[in-house]
Amino acid sequence: MAFLYSFPLPMILVFAVLLLQIHHSHSLTCTSQKFTSDRVYDNCNDLPKLSSYLHWTYDSSNSSLKIAFLAPPSGKDGWISWSINPKGQQMMGSQALIAYKVDDKMTVKTFNVSSDDIAPSKIAYQVSDMEAEYSDGTMKIFATIALPANLTTINQVWQVGSTVVDGIPAKHATLPDNLKSMGTLDLSVKEKSTSGGKRNGIPIFLIIASFLFLFVY
Ligand SMILES: *[C@@H]1O[C@H](CO)[C@@H](O)[C@H](O)[C@H]1NC(C)=O
Ligand SMILES: *[C@@H]1O[C@H](CO)[C@@H](O)[C@H](O)[C@H]1NC(C)=O
Ligand SMILES: *[C@@H]1O[C@H](CO)[C@@H](O)[C@H](O)[C@H]1NC(C)=O
Repeated sequence: MAFLYSFPLPMILVFAVLLLQIHHSHSLTCTSQKFTSDRVYDNCNDLPKLSSYLHWTYDSSNSSLKIAFLAPPSGKDGWISWSINPKGQQMMGSQALIAYKVDDKMTVKTFNVSSDDIAPSKIAYQVSDMEAEYSDGTMKIFATIALPANLTTINQVWQVGSTVVDGIPAKHATLPDNLKSMGTLDLSVKEKSTSGGKRNGIPIFLIIASFLFLFVY
């Protein structure tokens, strides 16, 4: 009798923990994306369009936003872009960071997008530590942006393109996903999803503990 009553509990624990683990890894891809040790971010979001990801840390003490934006360009000599648009969720007015190859070397430049003809220019924010990388079909933009104080949300607009003509990213496709790649970033979220390994460590420990529990029984 005691066996019948006590056996299911550890089994239930094991299944519950396994389910949590599976749910977690399926619901957030960005948590498995790792960078070099000096690139650590408090939050990450799987963006809803264009297979894109944003890792970010907002420091409210100096209103700086440190980001890593990852996306596959739509052609191997293409470009990726991440912007803040103080004017709304739209392309026009975007204060953009665009990464692409110049003389075969990845670079990232700022663009004040005010028409279809874009050119590198100053933007409304001071941007530091800009860097771009390209590996395994994914381009990455790294940057720190000085935001005006006390913002709680920003409009983010992201995009990918297939070609660069004369050193300028050419117009992107106008498929539904290219026209819907925008949204709000809630800066007040505190470590909703980490891109570090902390989250995965706990369930693994619990699985081991549950199995030990099962054996001790
Ligand atoms: C803001 O503060 C953080 C440390 O809390 C620092 O790493 C970052 O460089 C600062 N950013 C600016 C723009 O001063
Ligand atoms: C960006 O372009 C718009 C429209 O031409 C202009 O009003 C604005 O001052 C520009 N912003 C910067 C930072 O140059
Ligand atoms: C931001 O908020 C703090 C605290 O509420 C306030 O002291 C400060 O004046 C605000 N700064 C701006 C630029 O509004």
